[in-house]
Amino acid sequence: MLISVFGAQWGDEGKGKIVDLLSENADFVVRFHGGNNAGHTVVNKFGKFPLHLVPSGICNPKARCLITNGVILDLEVLLKEIKLLDDSEIKMKGRLLISPRCHLIMPYHKILDKLYEEAKGKIKTGTTGRGIGPTYADKVSYNGIRVFDLLNPNLFALKLKTQLLIKNRIIKSLGGEILHFQKIFDEFSHYRIGIKPYINETLTILQKAVTQEKKVLFEGAHGFFLDNDWGTYPFCTASAIVPGSINSTCGLPIIPERIIAIAKAYTTRVGEGPFPTELNNSLGNLIRERGNEFGTTTGRPRRCGWFDAEMVRFACKICGASEVALTKLDILDDFKEIKICTGYNFKGKRANYADGDANFFAKVKPIYKILPGWKTSTDTIRNWGSLPTRAKMYIQELEKQIGTKISYISVGPEREAIIKK
Ligand code: GDP
Ligand code: IMO
Ligand code: MG
Repeated sequence: MLISVFGAQWGDEGKGKIVDLLSENADFVVRFHGGNNAGHTVVNKFGKFPLHLVPSGICNPKARCLITNGVILDLEVLLKEIKLLDDSEIKMKGRLLISPRCHLIMPYHKILDKLYEEAKGKIKTGTTGRGIGPTYADKVSYNGIRVFDLLNPNLFALKLKTQLLIKNRIIKSLGGEILHFQKIFDEFSHYRIGIKPYINETLTILQKAVTQEKKVLFEGAHGFFLDNDWGTYPFCTASAIVPGSINSTCGLPIIPERIIAIAKAYTTRVGEGPFPTELNNSLGNLIRERGNEFGTTTGRPRRCGWFDAEMVRFACKICGASEVALTKLDILDDFKEIKICTGYNFKGKRANYADGDANFFAKVKPIYKILPGWKTSTDTIRNWGSLPTRAKMYIQELEKQIGTKISYISVGPEREAIIKK
């Protein structure tokens, strides 16, 4: 059984929680794109883990966790994460396997990320500052350095020297501080030793897993509207969010049997860019406080707003979602009324997400359907029948608007806080 999950909004939908839950019986859990711009929170009997690179299935002893070639690696962050998990008695050796085709986030990528953002000023993206865009840019322009290169010290030295020649000129011209070869070389020689036991070609393992009909869970990072093609470009990230990218990032020509869209019961966004249902008022602040909506990676306050069904419907359609996991329903427990955006108006006419670019999307006006709130706690509820009638009405209306069945409802951060519908 092959299952893929993806975020259907702008990220932080609760992917970590759902992946931890779904991988209880998984043989493999696979991260296939993005870098440590992702922050996936897992809460279970082992503790609370904010994971940036290690797949969120790592707490399930049976699951082997793969990082395939679509992922870009900040080795300092990865090694710290491995240590954090090891210290929590979660065995890593032999369970975490990393493709040597992964590209490395180098110190100059992080510097360039910040310098580009500063230079862009008012039209900046609001990146996480983790060097994501510059690393993927180097990948596609044949300037990247991969794990393969790191394992070959002479080639690594040559590539690093060459890149520093290029990058230091750009850094200098943008007013940044230039970098020195030896310091980086020594640092990465240290990382080479730390990471070596985890390097393993992931392709053959995955091909075998598919042939043997193992349970494989593909953990999408980020949210659909940060997709480099379909998101609110340039307020997006550098990788492809769509599950279809599993083909190129894992080497598998497959379509998973289950494609699960994860959507929060409301919407959040971190960074710049349009957000039609954003609540720039006390209601938005209330959602932020109740939902503890602060970035897992950067700690930035997340922008909050009502559920946008037009967006989630579009994401489900493009990604071929078979079902939806709805998270953080409990955060809406105390609202008198709750709004659902069912579509948009632009200059008096009905408009769709795909009608234009981010500039257009910034101008659309949401059309709302208003539902009564349920004003009862849902966090201890574990079955559909026990949910308040008005909460059921809200979920059924979302299902109708999205056009895809909701099969999981999450009512708390812990693995157990789930209702299977
Ligand atoms: P991800 O990036 O999609 O994995 O999401 P994040 O981990 O960045 O953010 C989701 C936050 O909500 C985390 O702090 C989770 O522990 C928490 N969370 C997930 N599902 C639920 C839920 O159903 N209810 C509540 N109250 N918190 C949740
Ligand atoms: P998870 O996996 C929320 C956003 C950044 C910024 C834009 C580009 O936890 O859902 P980048 O550093 O990728 O170049 O930033 O994308 N962004 C995220 N927002 N959750 C994420 O990941 C994100 N990953 C990137 O805030 O607006
Ligand atoms: Mg997150």
